[in-house]
Amino acid sequence: MTMTRLDPSEPRNAERAFHMNTYPRAPITVVRGEGLRVWDDQGREFLDFTSGLCVNTLGHCHPVVVEAVRAQVGTLIHATNGVYTLPQLELARLLVEHSALDKVFFCNSGAEANECAIKLARKWGRTRKGGAYEIITANTGFHGRTLGTMAATGHRHVQQDFEPLPEGFTQVEFNDLAALRDAITERTAAVLLEPIQGVNGVELATQEYLRGVRALCDEKGVLLMLDEIQSGVGRTGTLWAYEGYGIEPDVMTVAKGLGGGVAIGACLAKDAVAVFQPGDHASTFGGNPLACAAGRAVLQEVIARDLPGHARRLGERLRAGLGEIQAEPGHGITAVRGAGLWFGIEFGEGGANTVWERCLRRGMLLVRSGTGRALRVSPSLTVTEQECDRFLEVFRQAVRS
Ligand SMILES: Cc1ncc(COP(=O)(O)O)c(C=O)c1O
Repeated sequence: MTMTRLDPSEPRNAERAFHMNTYPRAPITVVRGEGLRVWDDQGREFLDFTSGLCVNTLGHCHPVVVEAVRAQVGTLIHATNGVYTLPQLELARLLVEHSALDKVFFCNSGAEANECAIKLARKWGRTRKGGAYEIITANTGFHGRTLGTMAATGHRHVQQDFEPLPEGFTQVEFNDLAALRDAITERTAAVLLEPIQGVNGVELATQEYLRGVRALCDEKGVLLMLDEIQSGVGRTGTLWAYEGYGIEPDVMTVAKGLGGGVAIGACLAKDAVAVFQPGDHASTFGGNPLACAAGRAVLQEVIARDLPGHARRLGERLRAGLGEIQAEPGHGITAVRGAGLWFGIEFGEGGANTVWERCLRRGMLLVRSGTGRALRVSPSLTVTEQECDRFLEVFRQAVRS
């Protein structure tokens, strides 16, 4: 077999030839990153206000992450989960000590963390709630792309073409407590929600709603499972978004920002819900020393530097700046939502895409929401005041022109 030689400056050709057609991409090839900046293969610099989709918590190639990975990679990269490894147990301890949950299971991605939560809810329902197995989710929520997490995800465009999906999922309107109350039956094992819906354009659960959901779950003896895969690790101005609501979940899933760029996922549960027994669940790579060393370094840094506090302060700066832009004529913005360093900026028809392209041309990366109507702003938690001001300057030009 002969390999076609491709011009490396033509990644679009390489993608067409070798990669499945899954990602709508910006027409740039990123080759290097440092802090809030990335550079493409032409040497052009971009201000990255995506943090790799809420992943690069400390920015690109932060020395703390680089050093942790470097040290671990020369010591022990992987070992079977049939033995103990210290980075895994140390990260589990750190997560437990800094959350309301008691036990951790590690995996490699957000979808896997939610699969673990779904299995945990089913096992809990089977053994503790008379065989209850149904999970109620929000019809505008997003939980991943595996069969189980697609069934949990409300968006039709994610599900269509892949049916039949696993049974046992019911969807209700987000922020509608009465709808949730009506949907709970004796078969319901759990409610699974994002406290803040990322893919849906940073749509926040109201305080009333999430507190009401907690009370309702308690009343009905149903688990409350929060998907904090995007909202966790300081993004919203508290280490976990649930803290901002004054409630505690029974199960929480985490991924994205935990590894600071290294793939990791985790499902955390209260002791009474952590009902797995040996053989119930496993992951070859889950909790490997390399990923856990990265996760341990990220979490320690986030806590030691109070990056959630930094996210609150700089989030306020961004919010104020966005408010000024909204007060000016001709901006096309219909709504700004957010918490901490995480905003969804909604536009009229076609507006989000146009502004996204203009920002890209001006050297700034943003994420478009799954709905296509909003832009998501999610810089690394190490963002500086100057970088926030630069974002506002570029964004102001992009919405005006
Ligand atoms: C809230 C939420 N849950 C789950 C996932 C799936 O995570 P992953 O892509 O790591 O499987 C995502 C990804 O965007 C997410 O935002």
